[in-house]
Amino acid sequence: MGLELLTDRAAELFEKCFGHAPRWVAAAPGRVNLIGEHTDYNHGFVLPMAIDRYTVAAGDRASGSGITLHSLTAGETASFPARPPMRRGAPAWSNYVRGVVHGFQQRGKIGGFNAVIDSEIPLCGGLAGSAALEVATATLLEAMMRLPLEPQAKAELCQRAEHDFAGVPCGIMDQFTAILAQEGHALLLDCRDCGATPVRLSDPSVTVLIINTNVRHRLAGGEYARRRAQCEAAARALGVASLREVRFADLDAAHERLDPVTFRRVRHVVTENDRTLLAARALQARQWEMAGQLMYQSHASLREDYEVSCAELDVVVEIAQKLGTGGGVWGCRMTGAGFGGCAVGLVRTEAVKTIRREIEEQFERRTGGHAAIFSTRPAAGARLYSRRAPNLAFELCPSAPWPNPARPESEPGVLG
Ligand code: GLA
Repeated sequence: MGLELLTDRAAELFEKCFGHAPRWVAAAPGRVNLIGEHTDYNHGFVLPMAIDRYTVAAGDRASGSGITLHSLTAGETASFPARPPMRRGAPAWSNYVRGVVHGFQQRGKIGGFNAVIDSEIPLCGGLAGSAALEVATATLLEAMMRLPLEPQAKAELCQRAEHDFAGVPCGIMDQFTAILAQEGHALLLDCRDCGATPVRLSDPSVTVLIINTNVRHRLAGGEYARRRAQCEAAARALGVASLREVRFADLDAAHERLDPVTFRRVRHVVTENDRTLLAARALQARQWEMAGQLMYQSHASLREDYEVSCAELDVVVEIAQKLGTGGGVWGCRMTGAGFGGCAVGLVRTEAVKTIRREIEEQFERRTGGHAAIFSTRPAAGARLYSRRAPNLAFELCPSAPWPNPARPESEPGVLG
């Protein structure tokens, strides 16, 4: 549908629901992680990019002290008071908004407001739809309540909302990407100091393919928290602040001190950090085959050592690997938390049609399921539109007063 239509649709519905045009529409993208999985909460490296699918929140201040949200995606309305203390409540999706409002309440007075929420990000696909909702809400609140936040503070506020109101102890990757992403670039994030380095990915002969297995495993939430706890326990046992401090050369010594399962978790994180840095360099140098090999290695490590893949994701990666570079596929791996959701492929643009058909057919034959496949390109992070008068068109607002903390491309940073 595209961001413009999505914005118009949300604005129109707002007018229908609340009797006047909204003053603002905030938009935040989903993301796909190219490599660097389950490393963010270990203060490691990740290499995500925003996808060209957004969640939008059309909103305006309300005269009363209540918050009313209408979600087009869920087909539901949520109403709750704006005054603190903010509590969790039904419907479940409203908790992402409640959590963000709670974060702003720590910084100033939040009055009542109305909003219509719409999204093109597939639900539960591991494409960070929840972070997009948090960041769109935060972007709207920054404007409505005149409380602008620096990017890192904004990402942390949204991450806290997810921890405290949705009960998911996620890392910072998704929220950061939704805020900082740049068109035509992936983002190499150092999750220890929140440093971001854009990595150009705009060669028209290369396409990023997202393959949604449409599988959602119920265990995902608990298993994610368990992995995180295992990593933190391993860091304590090894006497380091986080697994980021463990080097490949330290693995032999770690083997002696950890039980076999914990050791495998650590090995994944340590080797994944190395792979992520190598992949960023490979993308920058347009060494697609090298980047693709690292993606396959990442998948194997997530499957064997971290144990967060599932049969359907493994089937997608197997099909892709069999098609190989000759069939136009450089690399493929599961993306996001795992246990279902999506795989990401780095493929030759001219072969996209055939690759899609092959994966769809073979996936159905082997699993009986339907894989939803779409191509995407690196999109821009959160943005805000406003209109000066109800009859005027929405205009993109100038970005926040702070400079984008992403290092300029000319400065090599960790890519040295
Ligand atoms: C989820 C979390 C992220 C990250 C990934 C795994 O998407 O929200 O913070 O941990 O899983 O890499």
